[in-house]
Amino acid sequence: MRSIVLSGFMATGKSTVGARLAARLGVSFVDTDELITAAAGQSIPELWKSEGEAAFRAREHEVVRSLLLDPTPRVIAFGGGTVTSRELRHLALERAVVVTLTARPETIARRAGDVSGRPNLVAPDPAVRVRHLLEQRAAIYAECHQTLQTDDVDADALVDAIVPLVQ
Ligand code: S3P
Repeated sequence: MRSIVLSGFMATGKSTVGARLAARLGVSFVDTDELITAAAGQSIPELWKSEGEAAFRAREHEVVRSLLLDPTPRVIAFGGGTVTSRELRHLALERAVVVTLTARPETIARRAGDVSGRPNLVAPDPAVRVRHLLEQRAAIYAECHQTLQTDDVDADALVDAIVPLVQ
């Protein structure tokens, strides 16, 4: 089995779907944000504040690169900005089945709720920031093997749609 990468914007359900998908497939689940924060001993907002986004991206690059190069099949939830790295985007497409989860901007804004844990959405108006980043990233999220929209779809139905991609 190839690894499955779940990509897509913040609050599209990557972690929820990823954990269920991994359980269904009997493989381990990893969330790259969790690996980064565990290694750093700081939360994402803390890292963003103490080191800045560029340093966070450098940590993300190392963690994701070594995961993708490891042949063990897994379900891997990327952070929403992981694929802004061209190198990681292309490596993921080469080494794994890449599924992008999408949602309407208003669904994302609602699901994201309190944005204090997501420094990239902390802006004068988080809903405007969501739209802006979505527009900026639309083309890169489209570089994937399969896109699944998640508005009004439950996590188990998404798992059902993803399983055949690796079986
Ligand atoms: C980010 C997404 C976050 C996290 C960081 C930056 C982004 O991951 O990596 O806050 O730039 O889209 P989630 O998509 O898991 O929230």
